Amino acid sequence: MGYIDVIHEVKRYKSGGASLVANNDVTFSILQGELVVILGASGTGKSTLLNVIGGMDGCDEGDVIVDGENIAKYNAKELTEYRRLDVGFVFQFYNLVPNLTALENVEMASEIVPYSNDPMEVLASVGLSNRCDNFPSQLSGGEQQRVAIARAVAKRPKILLCDEPTGALDYKTGKQVLHILQNMSRKHGATVLIVTHNSAIAPIADRVIRMRDARIASVNRNANPRNVDQLEW
Ligand SMILES: Nc1ncnc2c1ncn2[C@@H]1O[C@H](COP(=O)(O)OP(=O)(O)OP(=O)(O)O)[C@@H](O)[C@H]1O
Ligand SMILES: [Mg+2]
Repeated sequence: MGYIDVIHEVKRYKSGGASLVANNDVTFSILQGELVVILGASGTGKSTLLNVIGGMDGCDEGDVIVDGENIAKYNAKELTEYRRLDVGFVFQFYNLVPNLTALENVEMASEIVPYSNDPMEVLASVGLSNRCDNFPSQLSGGEQQRVAIARAVAKRPKILLCDEPTGALDYKTGKQVLHILQNMSRKHGATVLIVTHNSAIAPIADRVIRMRDARIASVNRNANPRNVDQLEW
């Protein structure tokens, strides 16, 4: 038994008469505090899987056990509670609230949990101290991505789910962000899942999961994960 056990999970999308299987009999386990990298080509079901684990979306079959609880059987109220208290989510397309400033976007997350990190400090850690009062539309893509990461980290979540968190970032900023995510696992004991196309990130992971055609292609445990500083890509 792991901390997160995904067991025979299936997710289908129906559009018109057709049905598409986005996650097909997905099974794997993750231990508490692990840093996990999920790799796979576009359309293989990575975001779908993250959404199911984060309680953003339900699955059609199977079980998703998180810390002993089957969230696949949760009702809407239980899912809301789970997302609010336990999960930090960095969306592939940021999903910042457009009419709130960077600081307010982060505060929105930190205010809903009992123990949070200071929003200003977290924004500083992603290099945005001087952009706090700007609205998302006034920020570059990479800056918006960093606000989204600050927002997720500010909650001190038990589970941190990151969909392409460095996709819009340059090399140096990308490394900075990976450093923060690795620290969340190493120093704060959060279980961190990172979805990425960039296989060069894989050496920092405790576990690497590869997806192909909506299925798990392989799961590899990394006995000696690298520090982010040792990464090159
Ligand atoms: N809401 C939806 N309705 C219908 N089909 C969907 C929906 N969301 C995703 N899909 C389909 O499910 C499959 C998996 O999508 P998903 O977004 O999980 O892929 P991904 O691995 O995250 O891809 P990418 O790397 O491009 O982000 C794709 O074929 C996609 O078109
Ligand atoms: Mg995706």
